[in-house]
Amino acid sequence: MAEIGGQMINARAVQLSAEIISNKKVGAYHHMVFAVGEVAANCRPGNFVAISVGGASSSLVLRRAFAIYRASLRSDGMGLLELVIAPQGSGSKWLVAQEPGDRVDLIAPLGTAFGIPKEPINALLVGGGYGSAPLFSLAETLKARGCRVDMVLGASTAGKIYAPLEGKRSVNSLTITTDDGSAGIAGRVSDVLPNLIAEHEVDVIYSCGPMAMLEAITLISQKADVLHQCSVEESMACGIGVCMTCVLPVEGDDGVIRMTRSCVEGPVMDGNKVLWNKSREIPDGVWGK
Ligand SMILES: Cc1cc2nc3c(=O)[nH]c(=O)nc-3n(C[C@H](O)[C@H](O)[C@H](O)COP(=O)(O)OP(=O)(O)OC[C@H]3O[C@@H](n4cnc5c(N)ncnc54)[C@H](O)[C@@H]3O)c2cc1C
Ligand code: FES
Repeated sequence: MAEIGGQMINARAVQLSAEIISNKKVGAYHHMVFAVGEVAANCRPGNFVAISVGGASSSLVLRRAFAIYRASLRSDGMGLLELVIAPQGSGSKWLVAQEPGDRVDLIAPLGTAFGIPKEPINALLVGGGYGSAPLFSLAETLKARGCRVDMVLGASTAGKIYAPLEGKRSVNSLTITTDDGSAGIAGRVSDVLPNLIAEHEVDVIYSCGPMAMLEAITLISQKADVLHQCSVEESMACGIGVCMTCVLPVEGDDGVIRMTRSCVEGPVMDGNKVLWNKSREIPDGVWGK
């Protein structure tokens, strides 16, 4: 790990020109594969990439962050990185319009990874929308450690559930929730969690998705006295710890609350240490306020 401003950044991060190998529409998302060489071997579940969007003459100066869905180094030395992209605004729409053979400027891997237990435990993985992206490779890693892995995926509607077939095979059970009831159980992921935690004697929850969902899961995990590692999705600009766009209040091990950069000390964080704060104001008690 290297340091910027006294904090650690992912020292394995490399900036490269990555060729797009494939770009397929899957439901509401695009599954995109990039050739990244040996960098793939350094990517862990929870890490993300920062991609320059809009082309060389674009006014879109800020890189966009995307969670790594899967990274693999083939026996012929070809390193592949897979992302799941939801076309939303100008940057993501530009990205999904690129074709195989095109190149993008990409920095990877960035940020912290999910902590993997040394002993087999019971894990519950919870994803909202494209937040399911990093959970499938995490599930495989946990299964390889002998863990029981149950998964809950939620979205507003059926087309926004990203659940590839191989993902279903890598978990013990998969529960789907949709707000409109068009697939699985009608409701939110938080509605089904208490029962699943009790039924599977869950030791740790891993989550990724919208901040409101992560906050709701934190409340449930605290009540059930279960660990909660979440990948926060705070807006990012530089992605490498320089601009302070991505800060959120987090309590440190010393009990002091600090505005913490989620691109460097996250995106994976202890949910119980985050001061979930919809107002976007710096809460009282934060160091330096
Ligand atoms: C860790 C992380 C992982 C992510 N993973 C995925 C993923 O796997 N798949 C996926 O589709 N999306 C993912 N996103 C969201 C993605 O980074 C983009 O935000 C999203 O694609 C919208 O970008 P856009 O250009 O299409 O939208 P636009 O609305 O056109 O642009 C959003 C732009 O506004 C900037 N912005 C927004 N709010 C602020 C703010 N408060 N301060 C400064 N700048 C701001 C953003 O940085 C971005 O540059 C992730 C985001 C994070 C932080
Ligand atoms: S996005 Fe710039 S410091 Fe985190």
